[in-house]
Amino acid sequence: MTERPVIRSGPVIRSGEGKLGVLIPGFGAVATTMVAGVESVRRGLAKPIGSLTQMNTIRLGKRTDGRSPLINDFLPLAQLDQLVFGAWDPFPDDGYESAVKAGVLTPQHLDPLRDFLRSIRPMPAVFDREYVRRLDGPNVKSGKNKLELAEQLRADIRRFAKENGCTRMVMVWCGSTEIFLRPGPQHASLKDFEVAMKANDPAIAPSMIYAYAAIKEGVPYANGAPNLSGDIPALESLAKESGVPIAGKDFKTGQTLMKTILAPGLKARMIGIAGWFSTNILGNRDGAVLDDPDSFKTKEESKLSVLEHILQPQMYPELYGKLYHKVRIEYYPPRGDNKEGWDNIDIVGWMGYPMQIKVDFLCRDSILAAPIVLDLALFLDLAHRAGMKGIQEWLSFYFKSPQTAPGLYPEHDLFIQQKKLKNTLRWLGGEEPLTHLGLEYYEGE
Ligand SMILES: NC(=O)c1ccc[n+]([C@@H]2O[C@H](COP(=O)([O-])OP(=O)(O)OC[C@H]3O[C@@H](n4cnc5c(N)ncnc54)[C@H](O)[C@@H]3O)[C@@H](O)[C@H]2O)c1
Repeated sequence: MTERPVIRSGPVIRSGEGKLGVLIPGFGAVATTMVAGVESVRRGLAKPIGSLTQMNTIRLGKRTDGRSPLINDFLPLAQLDQLVFGAWDPFPDDGYESAVKAGVLTPQHLDPLRDFLRSIRPMPAVFDREYVRRLDGPNVKSGKNKLELAEQLRADIRRFAKENGCTRMVMVWCGSTEIFLRPGPQHASLKDFEVAMKANDPAIAPSMIYAYAAIKEGVPYANGAPNLSGDIPALESLAKESGVPIAGKDFKTGQTLMKTILAPGLKARMIGIAGWFSTNILGNRDGAVLDDPDSFKTKEESKLSVLEHILQPQMYPELYGKLYHKVRIEYYPPRGDNKEGWDNIDIVGWMGYPMQIKVDFLCRDSILAAPIVLDLALFLDLAHRAGMKGIQEWLSFYFKSPQTAPGLYPEHDLFIQQKKLKNTLRWLGGEEPLTHLGLEYYEGE
């Protein structure tokens, strides 16, 4: 038997030399935990657990080939010592003060990094209390209209690149969850969007202004919160036309991560689900913001959409047609960032017999979110250098509400998302996708 030729034809990837600026609107718990973690790893003081770019391998070729390099060795990703961080926040606290207030990391981890974290001071934010009602801070930009505020952000981006000698940048929104907004005519096209910005239209939220500024400056943009931000037609087409990759929305951590691990497993075995009740208590600033019903609604929509898409009740009405899904978040200050999430799942087995699963997840939200921010920054930079543009669905793996091209439904199943991510990485490295099709037992031609 003749060996099949190996096809290696990935895209051309531009050089990743020089500094990569990681720009972060929202310098709170998640952002400071990520920055402190990267610096600790750089100093050999901690391990980047939870990060695919730092720890995961990727199988290439057949199982018998024995080729499973680290993703970081297989692809020309930016290395941690190339990263420089910049942030915006309505609170002027530097990285050390903000991390101490967030209460995620202990003095044992923060104290050795004090000078480094103090050196990162957030730039004045584009912030408006109308969109995040539970917060107010003095470190805020002012301008005649929203277009002018976007110009100020663009000037910040250019200045940051110059002062830090960056060859390229990425932006990841780690700001608070804004109130619920639906896409409207103001978001339909770039022209409508710019007219609305100039007119200070309330449909333009601060997170959209950051996304616009980033894309206009050729900076890839990811949105870690559930608010719309870059998920509107005007910015999607701007990203595509400008050759800029974007991704969103809402980091998949904690309870939703568990949901997208458990639900595909139950469905794979055709186990029915009658009800899924999820409740959380958390006491950090994010919890305080989500105590406002309008911010909670944005989060609720994001969390609720997950099961519907995984379980496909329209195809399996007997198993999932009557599923009752409820999600609650309660602000409870004593817990700080250490959230507790309970799930009660009423499942249905053979002949309709009911059973129950209880999950009690004592998690640390920002510890789960930090590696996602790092991976998104590195993958978006790689995608940009490989000429990928517009919505990056292969990064759905990291999001609760994956952004999709118009007309497509989002993929929520963590395992399908992982396959898509890894096959995209194989393609980027000029390797064939893995189908897991085993034809070695086939005795035909
Ligand atoms: N931690 C997680 O597991 C997780 C998961 C999914 C999504 N998220 C989302 O990530 C975001 C950050 O979470 P966190 O726990 O770090 O919250 P946080 O409250 O500690 O930090 C958010 C920061 O954003 C700032 N901010 C608000 N509006 C801003 C604006 N317009 N410009 C710049 N900064 C602004 C706030 O002042 C605050 O410091 C939230 O939207 C949260 O819902 C977090």
